[in-house]
Amino acid sequence: MSKNMQINYSIALLVLLSIISCLEAQLQVGFYSYSCPSAETIVKQQVTNAFMSNPGIAPGLLRMHFHDCFVRGCDASILIDSTTGNTAEKDSPVNNPSLRGFEVIDAAKNILETQCKGIVSCADILAFAARDGIALAQGPVYAVPSGRKDGRVSLASEVLTNIPSPAMNVSQLTTNFANKQLTQDEMVTLSGAHTIGVSHCSIITSVDDRLYNFSGTNMPDPALNPSYVPQLQAACPKGSTSTSSVVNLDPTTPTIVDNKYYANVLVNKGLFTSDWTLRTNPATAASVNANANNQAQWFNKFTAAIVKLGNIGAGSAGEIRTNCRVIN
Ligand code: HEM
Ligand SMILES: *[C@@H]1O[C@H](CO)[C@@H](O)[C@H](O)[C@H]1NC(C)=O
Ligand SMILES: *[C@@H]1O[C@H](CO)[C@@H](O)[C@H](O)[C@H]1NC(C)=O
Repeated sequence: MSKNMQINYSIALLVLLSIISCLEAQLQVGFYSYSCPSAETIVKQQVTNAFMSNPGIAPGLLRMHFHDCFVRGCDASILIDSTTGNTAEKDSPVNNPSLRGFEVIDAAKNILETQCKGIVSCADILAFAARDGIALAQGPVYAVPSGRKDGRVSLASEVLTNIPSPAMNVSQLTTNFANKQLTQDEMVTLSGAHTIGVSHCSIITSVDDRLYNFSGTNMPDPALNPSYVPQLQAACPKGSTSTSSVVNLDPTTPTIVDNKYYANVLVNKGLFTSDWTLRTNPATAASVNANANNQAQWFNKFTAAIVKLGNIGAGSAGEIRTNCRVIN
């Protein structure tokens, strides 16, 4: 072999090796097609069963995936139970008692451990389950790249600093999403997830106090549509402290993944300040308008953005947890 050929050969080898190591760090669609071909079907079956008895499972799993990915990446840190020495993410007031759907992940994991022991990560189960919930709620269908690893750390103290607050304005939200390498437009696109599900009344009566005492005025937020206020007040009576009182995020089509969220925001029927504020900036307002006018386009943007959300932390070291609630 000539010296030149040797050099070329070494370069080719280096390029190949770097491509391989790069691929290893990336998630891929069909990651389990050889190691556990029925993985995605098993998850879908469990989500479907749960959805049949409680459609609230769809928004529950979607929010859980988001809250997983925004804290330490999509590593199923949200699923870990607190222990004597450690308060886990799920027990932050941001997540407890409002996050729901843990039992669906457990059910899928139990079956997967009997059929494909030690193969399918809890983080992937959650990403698949969020996708399946969206489809069951008549939203877009998309392929989920997989191959995530489960993390070994879950700290309640990291939740408030990473998960956006419903009282944030558009610049704060933009910064919060930029911290996760998501653009302002992706932030607007993903906010459309508030097309399904509920909020606990305590959010709009204390954390983001829009309903009775906005900015200490003893009045509702003047930015709320006046016809929406009595509707919200009926769902959330003054002084109601019960953790079980909730109100729909989308007053128009509360259980369907559609673009009505954006139409709501345009008529000041977005529930949170973080929804309303999207109207206050020219770029985000334009995006709200575009999404309100074109559901197919929002579906496309939403699936791309949620895949990107699901990539946060991809390639991190970790394990395949045996029980999604406990590190191995
Ligand atoms: C833009 C910043 C966001 C803020 C400030 C925010 C805030 C909130 C709040 C306060 C709730 C109600 C929680 C409760 O019941 O106490 C909620 C519910 C929900 N959020 Fe968000 N969220 C944001 C973005 C997202 C994203 C990106 C997704 C998913 C892609 C999402 C999905 C959901 C869903 C589906 C629910 C309903 C949950 C259920 O019914 O169980 N949110 N959000
Ligand atoms: C958003 O809120 C922050 C913190 O309260 C404030 O400094 C900033 O000026 C606000 N931005 C806008 C666009 O209202
Ligand atoms: C309304 O908010 C202000 C300022 O936070 C507070 O001083 C006042 O006590 C509140 N009013 C009620 C009725 O809770």
